[in-house]
Amino acid sequence: MHTTISPVQSIRGRLKVPGDKSISHRALMLAAIAEGQSRIEGLATGADVLSTKACMQQLGVEIEAAANALIVKGRGLAALHAPAQALDAGNSGTTMRLLSGILATRPFATTLIGDASLSRRPMRRIIAPLELMGAKVTATAEGKAPLTIHGGKLNSMQYRLPVASAQVKSCVLFAGLDAEGETIVIEPSATRDHSERMLAAMGAELRGEHNRIGIRRSTLHGMNISIPGDFSSAAFLIAAALLLSNSEAVLESVNVNPTRTAFLEVLKSMGATLALEGSNGPSFEPVATLHVQAQRLQGVRVNEALVPQLIDEVPILAVLATQAEGETIITGAQELRVKESDRLAALTTSLRAMGANVEELADGLIVRGPTRLHGAELDSFHDHRIAMAFAIAGLCADSPTTIQHAECADISFPGFFELLKEHCH
Ligand code: S3P
Repeated sequence: MHTTISPVQSIRGRLKVPGDKSISHRALMLAAIAEGQSRIEGLATGADVLSTKACMQQLGVEIEAAANALIVKGRGLAALHAPAQALDAGNSGTTMRLLSGILATRPFATTLIGDASLSRRPMRRIIAPLELMGAKVTATAEGKAPLTIHGGKLNSMQYRLPVASAQVKSCVLFAGLDAEGETIVIEPSATRDHSERMLAAMGAELRGEHNRIGIRRSTLHGMNISIPGDFSSAAFLIAAALLLSNSEAVLESVNVNPTRTAFLEVLKSMGATLALEGSNGPSFEPVATLHVQAQRLQGVRVNEALVPQLIDEVPILAVLATQAEGETIITGAQELRVKESDRLAALTTSLRAMGANVEELADGLIVRGPTRLHGAELDSFHDHRIAMAFAIAGLCADSPTTIQHAECADISFPGFFELLKEHCH
């Protein structure tokens, strides 16, 4: 399917983004291995989270729909059973990597498969630590999916992550839930801490601070979980409101966990001010309502110290940079080459096709702005964040833009194009 985006002047109104994808994966997995029932409200509705839900059901976990919520009937880690067939993680790296940590503790073999994109993504980063703990993992010769996890009795270890990755950190912490002794993970720089927050809330024996976290064998307890809106989805709408001259948008109930919101700091450095109205919801994750209006932007520098905390916002930041005065230099972002697509290559080719001045670096981008964007025929590279970033660029262009395979936005933001249609004029 392709979608055509026509230029508009504004995005206006109160907008609601879907539940946070990262928190939703963790809620389903941890509720599934907890003892007792969990009630999850506001779960993300995208395809990635549905993959996690289906995998947990295949492992024998009972999940029921209730009014405005999902009930997960956890019976503890030990109640998981070998699935009848391979578990399909679809497009979801989070499903494959986090679930591998849980499966490494189980005394059976499980095969995990994924779609073409996921089957190209690096898995040695989780295979190495899980094998150090005592699991056996088979993969392709290049260290990619399909993976077969032969789990069992695990030993703890102290592990220094070679890349700053919340997925790898979470995989090791989840394995540590049933390992002998204390499993310690040290990150090169702090990444999103949703796993730590949820593990602690469910009763795990967790300690540590900043980028060094230890976990001991723990029994988790089911609980009520309210999932806030996804900051990474909100970022596309924030960008639209900043760029479209007559905009005034209010984004409701967005997760503003400080390990996820470096994008807001970068916007501040670009000269934009956003009003955040805090709310004290029942969630153990901070939530706010964001007020955004059109503003003039300046170029900015983003380096490896900041990248892990805005890793999913780099595509939309590149779009913003095309309209900012001066040079934007993003470095230390080589991880973008192994996301759902090679995002640095996708951004360079496509934004150039729209008339932007973009230079591709091995580990980042240099964007010189402002440049007028022209409508173009673009490929989404089957990558949800690339499709949505190009859609926002298309709203600001001087003629219509066509995006091929735009339906991949459903991975994290079902209803994205409908929302733009309703609120953009
Ligand atoms: C995620 C972590 C990030 C991010 C992904 C979700 C998570 O990946 O890009 O969209 O939920 O832990 P990495 O940990 O591989 O950087």
